[in-house]
Amino acid sequence: MHEPDWIQPRRIDSIDDCYFYHTMDIPNHGVVQGEWDLRGRETLYLGNVSVVGKRVLEIGTASGHLCFAMEKMGATVVAYDLSPDQDWDIVPYFGLDYEQHIQERKERIHKLNNGFWFAHGANGSRARVRYGTVYDIPGNMGPFDICTLGSILLHLRDPFLALQRVTANVRESVIVTDLLPVRRGKALDRFKKLIGFQQKPEAHSIYFLPNADRCAPNETWWSLSPGVIAEFLQILGFNRITVTYHQQSMQGQKYQMYTVVGRRGML
Ligand SMILES: C[S@@+](CC[C@H](N)C(=O)[O-])C[C@H]1O[C@@H](n2cnc3c(N)ncnc32)[C@H](O)[C@@H]1O
Repeated sequence: MHEPDWIQPRRIDSIDDCYFYHTMDIPNHGVVQGEWDLRGRETLYLGNVSVVGKRVLEIGTASGHLCFAMEKMGATVVAYDLSPDQDWDIVPYFGLDYEQHIQERKERIHKLNNGFWFAHGANGSRARVRYGTVYDIPGNMGPFDICTLGSILLHLRDPFLALQRVTANVRESVIVTDLLPVRRGKALDRFKKLIGFQQKPEAHSIYFLPNADRCAPNETWWSLSPGVIAEFLQILGFNRITVTYHQQSMQGQKYQMYTVVGRRGML
């Protein structure tokens, strides 16, 4: 198999051309404010998996905070994300004109990619980068020991297909981190009783978030329970599952998150 077409590192001179998803401490620059501040809680976010000496595929790297953190821990990282040439999975509410939204999203992704390259240069990172959608992972990038999917499955129309495609070239472990679903109230409990639902509450729940009356949200599809992620991973051959819970901070507010780690191996 021939060497993949890695994206050539870009030199970004002005931070004004960047958007940061993560709050990051950038060498020789200082702290840039992003939406999520994972600083000091990266190990929790990664489910306490040791990445030392591992080849890691990071899906949806955004500004790259976890990519650079994993490199510092001793991993070799391939960072994968959208570029303006691909499309986000938008919820296609009938009658809505998305032309402007799609254009703005592409501009945001261009600045997000720039932010990654700005930090990549400043950190002296050796991480390789490819752009594409999660459904279309080039086979010649692998194999990988570990793959991470942080806060991305909720944004995908087909999270199972994404996991299936991404994990095809992963030898050891998959790390999935996502927002913990909030309880959806008594109506759901009554419905479960009515149909004789036997599973533990929340164990295998998937909530479909788009609402046709409100035409919102338009870039988030699912609230996925750790149980359903565990089931997906087991179906795909990652039999040994651990689930951990942690808090992370977004714009000063704390959010409950979970990390499911699936490892290949005998039950
Ligand atoms: C919410 S951010 C999470 C960033 C980071 N993984 C973390 O956990 O902090 C989601 C990332 O997934 C990327 N993404 C969204 N849809 C995608 C798709 N269909 N294929 C590849 N990447 C996608 C976005 O560009 C963004 O960088």
